[in-house]
Amino acid sequence: MKQSSAITIRCLEYLGEREVQGLSDVLLDCVEGGASVSFMLPITRGKADAFWRDTAASMARGERVLLVAEDAAGTIVGTIQVIWAQPENQPHRGEVAKMLVHPQARRQGVGAALLRAAEQRAISAGKTLLVLDTANEDAERLYARQGWQRVGVIPDYALWPQGGLCSTTILFKALRGA
Ligand SMILES: CC(C)(COP(=O)(O)OP(=O)(O)OC[C@H]1O[C@@H](n2cnc3c(N)ncnc32)[C@H](O)[C@@H]1OP(=O)(O)O)[C@@H](O)C(=O)NCCC(=O)NCCS
Repeated sequence: MKQSSAITIRCLEYLGEREVQGLSDVLLDCVEGGASVSFMLPITRGKADAFWRDTAASMARGERVLLVAEDAAGTIVGTIQVIWAQPENQPHRGEVAKMLVHPQARRQGVGAALLRAAEQRAISAGKTLLVLDTANEDAERLYARQGWQRVGVIPDYALWPQGGLCSTTILFKALRGA
């Protein structure tokens, strides 16, 4: 899947040490830049690495897929996940999570390309509904551009990395006929 001549989107089968380090670089810069994506400051590299190793174990159990955006040198500049693991009465549903683009790679369409590829992957897996939540207004505009519907806002849902409560917005996208 090509986004432009410079960026390639790839669905990873497993995470080796190179991928863990590259993903941690992106996660650390996003959290240190203020993104509310489950982590508080200060965030250590050890904590970031442990998160991606847990993600790798979950991928190996077939609970989720992870896609990366890589630049021409093969450096990971962005990532997104689709979580398949849902209750048995929701086999048609997936959850989009951890869309992260390195600050230096933003505003070039990398996030949009990752989202398109994640949706395509979900369609290929037979999913008809995707859901997500986000505390990021830039991300919310991106989702809206790609046809996601805004359900509403939950106030005081989580903490910003530096502290202080932040709200989250719930969105969904029906994939049937996409
Ligand atoms: C949200 C996030 C993933 C967006 O990634 P991104 O790669 O910058 O996304 P895109 O480039 O596709 O779109 C971002 C903006 O750049 C614009 N853009 C895209 N390609 C462009 C180009 N070639 N030239 C100029 N602008 C461009 C888009 O129109 C969009 O504009 P807008 O902010 O006015 O709506 C990124 O900001 C991020 O990682 N944030 C921190 C982590 C986070 O909070 N993630 C959300 C979790 S749900």
